[in-house]
Formats: sequence, C-alpha cells, structure tokens
Amino acid sequence: MSNQIASREQWSGAWGFILAAAGSAIGLGNIWKFPYIVGENGGGAFVLVYLLCIAVIGAPVMICEFALGRHTQRDPVGAFKALAPKTSVLAHLVGLAVLLAGAFLLLFRCWGWGALLIGLGLLIFRHGWVLVGAMGVVAGFTILAFYSVVAGWTLGYVWKAAAGQLDFASVEAAKAHFVQFTFNPYWAVGCHFVFVMLCVLIVYKGIKSGIERWSKILMPVLLLIMLALIIRSLTLPGAMDGVRFYLTPDFSKINAGSVLTALGHAFFSLSLGMGAMITYGSYLDRKENLFSSTLSVVGLDTLIALMAGLAIFPAVFAQGFQPDAGPGLVFLVLPTVFHQIPLGAFWAFLFFLLLLIAALTSGISLLEVVTAYFVDERGWKRHRAAVVFGGAIFLLGALCAVSVTDISDWTRLEKLHAVLLKVFGSTKASFFDTLDNLSSNWLLPLGGLFISLFTGWIWGTKHALDEIRHGSSNFGDVHLISLLAGLKDDPSHNAGVHVVTLASLWGIFIRFISPVAVLIAFLHTIGWLKLT
Ligand code: PHE
Repeated sequence: MSNQIASREQWSGAWGFILAAAGSAIGLGNIWKFPYIVGENGGGAFVLVYLLCIAVIGAPVMICEFALGRHTQRDPVGAFKALAPKTSVLAHLVGLAVLLAGAFLLLFRCWGWGALLIGLGLLIFRHGWVLVGAMGVVAGFTILAFYSVVAGWTLGYVWKAAAGQLDFASVEAAKAHFVQFTFNPYWAVGCHFVFVMLCVLIVYKGIKSGIERWSKILMPVLLLIMLALIIRSLTLPGAMDGVRFYLTPDFSKINAGSVLTALGHAFFSLSLGMGAMITYGSYLDRKENLFSSTLSVVGLDTLIALMAGLAIFPAVFAQGFQPDAGPGLVFLVLPTVFHQIPLGAFWAFLFFLLLLIAALTSGISLLEVVTAYFVDERGWKRHRAAVVFGGAIFLLGALCAVSVTDISDWTRLEKLHAVLLKVFGSTKASFFDTLDNLSSNWLLPLGGLFISLFTGWIWGTKHALDEIRHGSSNFGDVHLISLLAGLKDDPSHNAGVHVVTLASLWGIFIRFISPVAVLIAFLHTIGWLKLT
C-alpha cells in the first residue's frame, strides 16, 4: 500500500482541488434542476430552506468526505475498508433492521422490494461499512448513466443553437421539437456518446493533466457566461417580476415535502453521499486546509445555483411565462424565451454551452469514482478502467436514451415499466423522475447518513478532526463566540477552555443533527413517517 500511496497522483494545490470539487458540485443540479424546483415550490421561501440545509447538513458532511478521502488516500471502498472495524454492532443492527423490513414486506406480498431488502440485509451482514463505499461506486455508475443522457440533450442543443435551429414561437413548438429530437436515436444516443467520450478522455488523462486542468479552464468560462446571461436577463423589460418571485419568501408554500426536496437536492447539488468528495479528497495533500476548501466549494456551488435563478426567472417572467414548468423549464420554456430576445440564438447558444460545461465537470467526477475504485482496489490501469467503465456507462445510458421520448415519458419501455410496476408496485412515475428519485431521495441521503454516522461514531470525530487539523492551522479550534465577535486573532479570547468551537459544532452536527434530519427525511420518503 505504501508504494501505491507514493505513486498516487495529487492535485497541484488547493486551488486546483477547489475548482475540481466545485466543478463536480456545480452541474445540471444547479442550473437545470434548482431553478425548476424553486419554481415548483413557490420561490424565495424554498431558497431559504435550501440554504439552511446546505449550511447545517451539506457543509459538515462534505468535510467528513474530504477527511475520509485524504486520511486514507483511497477510493470510497478502500477508505471504508481501511477504517472500518472488523465487526461493528451498528452495522449488524442496520443489517438486522433491513432483513426484518424485507421479511415484513414479503409478508405483505411486496415480492420485489422484499427480496431486494433481504439481499441487501445479507450484504450488510457480510460487508458491514464497506458497503457504504460500494454503494457510492454503484451510484456513480447509475447516476452518470442518466446524467449523461440529459447532458447529451444539452450538447445537441448547443449544436442546434449554433446552427440557428432553436427558434420557437411557442412552447408547443419547442416541445414538438424536443420530443422529435429526443425520439431520434441518432441524435439522442449520438450526443450521449459524445458526452461520455469527453468524460472518458478527461478522466483517462488523470488527476492533474485531466480533471484539474480542464476544471481550471472550464470553471472561469462558466462564471463569465453566467454573468453575461444574468446581465441580459435583468435588463429585459419586466424582469423585476421574476426577481420578486425568486427572492420574496412566501412560507405558506412550504410544507414537509418541500423541505425534503431541499434536503435531497442539497446532497445532489454538493455531490455528497456517494464518495465523489471522498475520491477527490484522496488526491489532496496533507498541507491543504480542509475547512476553508469546504467553505469555498459550498460557497461556489450555492453562488452558481442562486445565479442560475437570477439568469432564468427574470427572463421567464419578462416574456410572460410561468416558472413552474418542471424539468422542461430549460429545454422548452427557455428556447421560446430566447426567441423573443434580440440575438436570441446567440444567448441560447451561450446558455446551453453553460449547461454543458457544468454537466461535464460533474460527469468526470462521477466517472472518477468508478475509475478510482478499479485502480485502487482492483489494481487496474487508469486508462483501462476509464475506457471500460465509460463504455459500460454509455451502454446503460443508451438504453435510457432510447427508452424516453421526453423526460416524462416511458413510451418505448412500456413493457419494462409495466413489469417494474408489478414487482415494485410503485405509482406511475416518469422515467426521469424514477432515476432522479432513486439517486436524490434514496442513494445519496442514505450515503450521507452513513457517512455522518461512520465519521461521528465509528471512525470518531476525534480522529476525523486530527485529519482536518492538518493544514487548517487550527481554524476549527477558533472559539465560535470570538469568531462571531471578530476577535478570533485576539490571544486572550482563544486562551482557556475551548468548548464552543467550530470543530465542536461540526462534531455535534455530524453525530446528531445530520443523521436525525436525514433519517426523518428518509422515513418520510418511504412513507413510514407521515409529516404534513
Ligand atoms: N452535483 C452534481 C450536480 O449538481 C451532480 C452530482 C451528484 C455529481 C453526485 C457527482 C456526484 O449536477
């Protein structure tokens, strides 16, 4: 293992790491999904709830992931292998609970879910905590499969915008075009292929000359395009209606469901709960500051999500459209909005390019999780792992791509859908919602829950903090009251007993607050706890 560590690639410095991690976090989630869930959940109040989730749960969990990765210098599976005890009572208890839940479901003749849970329970018994890492690798694989389909549509739209073909007088016309485009396997699969290829090429090149290099080029471009779009949008006549909708909180529109959506989205948007940040942390040098890096990544991700809202809502309102169009907001409504703006084709091109760049830097982090696992745990060469799994993800994604004519349609997989309905007995959900639901509401929150529990109770906040302290020049130990009072450098304020420090606050969040919040959210999602 020491050899492996000696030859392990590293980021060239903190900035490269921060841009790569921010690149992973900033993606379709920020620019495509965030605005439409804000639109569906009533605007400003939802934004506030989301910010709270980011601060209270997202940031603390992100530090855990970075610490786990940097401490072990391994992929997610390797990280848990290195730190998990041989037998863990907590893991056995979870295994038992899952087995019982499975048996219970079988009793009620839910065969599909019952069998799935029994299998999972047995796996938990056998592999314990290592399974959390494995779940991350599986999540990386499945998320990238559908993510790259949507990213492929974006790529196609960049092309079409450049060719001046995205000019629609009505949302109906835009929809007809979108359905025709996604229904055409040459376009849908072709664009998906090109996107996966781009991810493979970058991951193939490795950490410094692949992921870091491209993140350093693409992230500033992304920021510039975003600024240009915001200025354009805010200077349209009538733009202020959109700003008002976006920034005025109306708490009557918030219910338990929207809080849970905000929590799930916080995980998705920050790339948490599946080991992407463990993997990126594993290439980081001990001398870099984890606390401040986390603040930068969380800050950049949140900034870009908020900016996306400012670019989209004013334009949508100014042209007289509604903000609650759901997943179709950017593919159907925006092209129509651009049609009414001078030089619309140019703005459409910029917008879809922005979306493509965001998706690309996230796509590479998903592929990197799978690649790192095969390199670290199975001894594969990076080149081989990137190509083989890029290929496999392409095939799975191609199935998704031809199965839908649009995000909310199962038309071509009617039979498969019917079988799934029978086995799992769920209500009719759209194809996209199903995959999105699986990752945002299940895999990532559960991953986040177990990562918090593991850091808080198994590895221990003390050991994690030892790791975080490397390179953070005791930032975490600053007395919180002194910090708030602006006296953090005053020696007398930091002398004496440090009880209320950033580090102790983090420990409490990780041990209690985030596990309980995620558990409540999760129990609500699966219907075992009914919140109003
Ligand atoms: N954070 C990315 C986004 O907002 C998606 C993602 C999730 C990437 C999980 C990596 C891991 O689009």
